[in-house]
Amino acid sequence: MTKTFRMDEAQPRLLDETGQGIVGAPLDRPEGPKKVSGRAAYAADGLPENAAHGVLVRATIPQGRVTRIDESSVSEVAGLLGVFHGPKMTRNPAQGMAGAAPVQPGNEVHYHGQPIALVVAESFEAARDAAQRLVVSYDADADVITDPSRSETHEQDDPETAGDFEAAFAASEVTLDRTYTTAPHAAAAMEPHAAVAEWEGDALTLRGALQMLRFNKKELADSLGIDPEQVRILSPYIGGGFGSKLGIGPEAVAAALAARELGRPVRVVMSRQTVFDTVLRRTETSQRLRLGADKDGRLRALSHDDLVSNIRDEGFAEPVSQASQFLYGAEGLSFTQTLARVCRTPTGSVRAPGEAVGMLALEQAMDELAEELGICPVELRLKNLPDKNPMTDQPFSATRLADCLREGAEQFGWAGRKPMGERREGDWYVGMGVASAARSNMLIKSAARVRLTGDGAVVETDMTDIGTGSYAILGQITAEMLGLPVAKVEVRLGDTSFPGASGSGGSFGASSAGSATFLAAKAIRETLAERMGCSLSELTLQNGIARGGNREMPLSELVDEELVEEASVEAGDTADSHFSAGFGAHFAEVAVHVYTGEVRVRRMLGVMAMGRILNEKTARSQALGGMIWGLGSALTEKLTHDPRTGHLATRDLANYHVPAHADVPGDLKVVFLEERDDMANPIQTKGIGELGISGAGAAILNAVRNACGARVYDMPATPDRVI
Ligand code: MOS
Repeated sequence: MTKTFRMDEAQPRLLDETGQGIVGAPLDRPEGPKKVSGRAAYAADGLPENAAHGVLVRATIPQGRVTRIDESSVSEVAGLLGVFHGPKMTRNPAQGMAGAAPVQPGNEVHYHGQPIALVVAESFEAARDAAQRLVVSYDADADVITDPSRSETHEQDDPETAGDFEAAFAASEVTLDRTYTTAPHAAAAMEPHAAVAEWEGDALTLRGALQMLRFNKKELADSLGIDPEQVRILSPYIGGGFGSKLGIGPEAVAAALAARELGRPVRVVMSRQTVFDTVLRRTETSQRLRLGADKDGRLRALSHDDLVSNIRDEGFAEPVSQASQFLYGAEGLSFTQTLARVCRTPTGSVRAPGEAVGMLALEQAMDELAEELGICPVELRLKNLPDKNPMTDQPFSATRLADCLREGAEQFGWAGRKPMGERREGDWYVGMGVASAARSNMLIKSAARVRLTGDGAVVETDMTDIGTGSYAILGQITAEMLGLPVAKVEVRLGDTSFPGASGSGGSFGASSAGSATFLAAKAIRETLAERMGCSLSELTLQNGIARGGNREMPLSELVDEELVEEASVEAGDTADSHFSAGFGAHFAEVAVHVYTGEVRVRRMLGVMAMGRILNEKTARSQALGGMIWGLGSALTEKLTHDPRTGHLATRDLANYHVPAHADVPGDLKVVFLEERDDMANPIQTKGIGELGISGAGAAILNAVRNACGARVYDMPATPDRVI
């Protein structure tokens, strides 16, 4: 039976007392060797006997309706099995979410590249051939809007405010009013989106590339008009997600529908270009920052107004000002968001939605303000750290932002920073920049099962590992709690027949699935204490031996067959009483070429306090990866749309420039400051994945300013914009 635990109050720090030193240790990922040797089966690797191959056909108009799909145009393709389209391919209207159709096949076209049909054949080549030949007729709309700044269908939210921004801004001794823009971004996960669907009677098994299986199972069932109990999803290994695999996608729905019709398994793998064209992207943004301060550097007014986009009827809008709402305090705060409706690939969550681009603007504006005031940018931030969330008045659960800024300044050699433009080495200007890091933190309902046999333990949950280290940390928590070596714990993930977890998203996975695993293991500890005839606090478990109440016993004698416990965790009162977020400070040193404007990042340092660190190595890798994303959004990453059709011009990893090795400095350092977040969850952790990005790009751009005086308002800061 599942025990559900609500996080209503601070919990004892049991993981500090178990004494094994496994939690926190920089252990290797247990699935690593399988991944690097090609033995980990990704979605498309599981090709069942007799499988057919599907290729998505995509719209070639930006907006309108499909009027006819001429199946006779492909009837001569050898091996063709079927062309699937129309109402049968649309989300089940009885259960469907309003307006969700554009992310899967249907007759309404909302963007160029939208999937409108699936062609299935005996081979991938035949399916691709037919998909390219298929003749589709459209009723295309005239006057489509592909540019958010031209969109007339703006939807503006009511401002979110605290105090009186206008009055505080007017009364400020120094004010700043700046507009920054950021480019649309792609998640660009290494593994393309893929699905293999197989029916047995009315039961569907889908191998997919998905981040949140508990939710995906329901979404897929809704799309097919069947009961979620009929759906099993398997995603044991996932080659990166970054938000792009949070929700069910057209490849999964189409594969399932075609497999049902054909009575045989169907595999659909997106090409890299199809991934770029159809998978949710990050919106472009335009952000107006207004800051007002007194001459001593005290912030009095802060407003952050943003413009984002999505296709018609889609509900998602990037929460751009999320961190601006809690990072610094001021008498007057105001935030508005405007959503423009455009014909471009729909937008959704891409790595640190909100902070990733919001802090690029906010933290540059803070740098500009420091310059206006003649105050050190580290000092300006230190002067303005609030002691509670300025919008909600909630106390912070834990924050060491001030320590991160001070420690970072010390370790980076910030005192050696020269005034703007005064450090030149040959043909390069050199400068330093700083930015705060912040990312909100959450606990999402999550369940896990732990089995203890005399010989070891097994963890089972539908949690995913998108390359982040879930296998490693869930094994470590269990080993720590049960006194076993990690090698004796087997972690089974990515199968919806296991207890449902949070999935991987929003940096909540480790905290949520980790807490559920911890609670299940704790329940086993309680049973073991009972069997030993001692209290829970007297029990010690180490190296397979239980000790307590003057007794000592090997687990193999204490556990006859197996002990099984399932536990579930959910957010409770602490989510209201306290505000939880990860904080840190980014420092960057760059060189800017005097004649070309090329920016080379020379070194970066991120000092972060992210609650309890479960695995020092996987946590560090997450933070480093985040900082590299920051580099990408500051300097290189940009999706470019054809203004006539909204079609992407940068549809692969050659044209969409994520930082490559040559772009990333060897001197990239992460320092963790010790922290426990007692209000966040039972294991005192915080989200890690996305904090590294948040603010990192701004530190680089602030360093560019310090180096050569250039302030680029339109990101990425490519050489033509810097020079
Ligand atoms: Mo994340 S953008 O919630 O994978």
